[in-house]
Amino acid sequence: MAAAEEMIERVTQAAAAAVRRIADAASADELEKLRIGLLGKAGEITGFLKSLGQVPAESRPRVGQAVNAAKEQVQGALEERKGALASSGQLRGKHWIDVTKPGIRRGAGHRHPLTRTLEEVKAILQSMGFRYDDYPEVEDEYHNFDSLNTPDWHPSRDMHDSFYTKSGNVLRTHTSAFQSRAMRAIKDPPIRAMTAGRCYRNDDVDATHFPMFHQLDAIAIDRGIHFGDLKWTLEQVLRGLLGPDIRLRFRPSYFPFTTPSAEVDVYYRGKWLELLGSGMMRPEVLRHGGLDSDRWQGFAFGMGIDRLAMRRYGITDIRLLYENDVAFLAQF
Ligand code: DAH
Repeated sequence: MAAAEEMIERVTQAAAAAVRRIADAASADELEKLRIGLLGKAGEITGFLKSLGQVPAESRPRVGQAVNAAKEQVQGALEERKGALASSGQLRGKHWIDVTKPGIRRGAGHRHPLTRTLEEVKAILQSMGFRYDDYPEVEDEYHNFDSLNTPDWHPSRDMHDSFYTKSGNVLRTHTSAFQSRAMRAIKDPPIRAMTAGRCYRNDDVDATHFPMFHQLDAIAIDRGIHFGDLKWTLEQVLRGLLGPDIRLRFRPSYFPFTTPSAEVDVYYRGKWLELLGSGMMRPEVLRHGGLDSDRWQGFAFGMGIDRLAMRRYGITDIRLLYENDVAFLAQF
C-alpha cells in the first residue's frame, strides 16, 4: 500500500515539474527534447508506465489512473506550448517572442501614417472653407463614370480595371465619384466640398500598386471661378502640408470631367512627385450635378494619399501601409 501511495506521489510531482519546464520552453527544438525526455521510450513518464507491472494487483488501478493522468497532463502541456510558440512566437519569420515573459511596456498607440496625412490635408482644406462628407465606396456606374462624362468606351470602365459587384455596382475607382452627389446634396453654390477615402482598382500588386488605395477629391463652384483659383488653392494646400520650400509643376493633361486639365507634380525632398489631377469642371459635369453650367464655374482636384504619405515618411513599398505590422508602424 505504502509503495503505491509513494508512486502516485512521485508521478504527480514529476508531471507538475514537467509542466513547468514545458511552459518555459523557448523554442520548438527545446520542446521536442522535453517530449522525448518525458514521453519517449526511455522517458520519465514512460518509466512509470513500465513499472506498473510491479505494482501489486489490488492497487494497480489507482496507480495506473495516476500515471495516465500524468501522461495526459504532460501531453496537454506540450500541445499548448507548441501552439503558443507557433502562433505568437514568430514575427515575420525571424524573431521569437516568449509569451510567458513579463511584458514590456509600449507607449500609447498612434494614428497610421495614412490617416495622419489624410487628416492634415483635410484640416487645411477645412480651414479654407471646404466641407467634408463621406460618400459611398460601393458606387453605381452613373456616379463613378457617367456623371463624370466618362463614356462607356473609356478605358477606366474596362472590367480589368474596375471591381464590379454581382449586382452591377462598382467599387469606386476614384473619389471623384462624389462630385455629382455633392452638388445635388448641397444644391446652391457657392459650393466648396471634399471627400476622401478608399478607392479600388484591379491592379497587380507591386511596390507602387495596391488594389486598394486612398484619394481625396475636392470641388469649388461659384461664379467666375477660374484656373488661377485652382492654382492658388493647390499652392496653399501643398505648402501647408509639405512646407514653404516646395515647387509645383502643372502639366497639361486630360481627364474626361475637366477642361482644361492639369496634372500637378510637387518637388519635394529632391524629387518630383506626381501627386494629383485637376482642372476646370466641364459643363456636362455641372449639369449632372443639377447646376446651370452657364451660370456656374468650378474647379476640381483629386490627389493620391498613399504616395504622398509614402514620400513624407520615407516609405518605399506601398504594401507596408497595409500589412498592419506593429513593428513597422511604430516607427512613424
Ligand atoms: N479622378 C482622377 C484619378 O483618379 C483624379 C482627378 C483628376 C480628380 C482631375 C479630379 C480632377 O477631381 O478634377 O486619376
